[in-house]
Amino acid sequence: MRRAPAAAFLLLALLAAAEASGPEGGEQACDKGWERSGSRLCCKRNITDFFKARHFEELFPRRNDTIAHAAGFWDYPAFIAAAALFEPRGFGTTGGKEMGVREVAAFLAHVGAITSCGRFYPNPMAWGLCYKREMSPYQNFYCDDSNELYRCVEGLQYYGRGGEALFLNYNYGIIGKGIKQDLLSHPELLQQNATLAFEAAIWRWMTPVKWRQPSAHDAFVGNWKPSKNDLLSKRYPGFGTTMNIMRGDRICGQGFTDEMNNTISHYIYYLGLMGVNHEHSGRSLDCADQVVFNPSSKSLGS
Ligand SMILES: *[C@@H]1O[C@H](CO)[C@@H](O)[C@H](O)[C@H]1NC(C)=O
Ligand SMILES: *[C@@H]1O[C@H](CO)[C@@H](O)[C@H](O)[C@H]1NC(C)=O
Ligand SMILES: *[C@@H]1O[C@H](CO)[C@@H](O)[C@H](O)[C@H]1NC(C)=O
Ligand SMILES: *[C@@H]1O[C@H](CO)[C@@H](O)[C@H](O)[C@H]1NC(C)=O
Repeated sequence: MRRAPAAAFLLLALLAAAEASGPEGGEQACDKGWERSGSRLCCKRNITDFFKARHFEELFPRRNDTIAHAAGFWDYPAFIAAAALFEPRGFGTTGGKEMGVREVAAFLAHVGAITSCGRFYPNPMAWGLCYKREMSPYQNFYCDDSNELYRCVEGLQYYGRGGEALFLNYNYGIIGKGIKQDLLSHPELLQQNATLAFEAAIWRWMTPVKWRQPSAHDAFVGNWKPSKNDLLSKRYPGFGTTMNIMRGDRICGQGFTDEMNNTISHYIYYLGLMGVNHEHSGRSLDCADQVVFNPSSKSLGS
């Protein structure tokens, strides 16, 4: 019943945006390839045009360090292979080139901050992709028995793994369904195959956690228009709301905490390495006083 108006609104918004886009932002309407005519996605552009292997090395220079816990695991081809699956849906390909760069930096900032192994000087930002799994998980802590849809498999553990430290049977179940892998029976895939680990993380970025909520992608690139309730909850399009969606009250709505700041710092730092000045990082970088979309007491295993 409610789908129609929402879809119509989205279409109007897309049309309006397509019309509004000019040469300024490097956007152009196109009529070939997987982009449909009039789409905002620019012809033939993909992430490899602006994100090269050397950028990946610069963003994650210490990932093979002797103290890194996932040395030799994460690599550029894995990221590119995973990203390619989501480019037709707009990942890194929405809007002009600068928006593409910003989205890749924003997504990787989440991954880098979560998988960092600490604040080692001189450069605490250099330690992303140090982990591929949570190191000392509590036994059996990550099984929510009340979830009937995605039951835990006896003997397996659903602690944090992969690029977003995906945890809990519910999340393994739903993301596995999304990327067409049986992660409930094989959670270890996310620590054995870097392409799948990136795929799971990008799927989460591209997909709303709940119906009628924006995906991190939509909140970031501006596809999402906040409702009155969102505005009252201080949720605006931008990097801050991606943290709300991806991490919820683990880092949002608690003021300027260290962990939230650290995620923002990764974003700004990665942008710089990719040649975008911090002044172009977009508005609403933080989620310090945002009301979270999914409070953890309600969203876990729901
Ligand atoms: C890290 O290891 C990966 C996988 O073995 C390799 O492709 C990459 O070149 C290495 N990078 C650095 C900075 O050592
Ligand atoms: C992205 O662009 C590169 C260089 O043009 C090309 O080799 C590659 O096949 C493209 N990838 C996808 C998924 O379109
Ligand atoms: C990782 O998963 C991808 C996607 O399913 C697959 O194509 C690739 O062969 C796997 N790599 C390894 C080393 O198993
Ligand atoms: C986080 O950043 C804000 C703004 O830059 C700053 O005022 C605050 O002190 C920082 N918080 C922590 C815990 O470092």
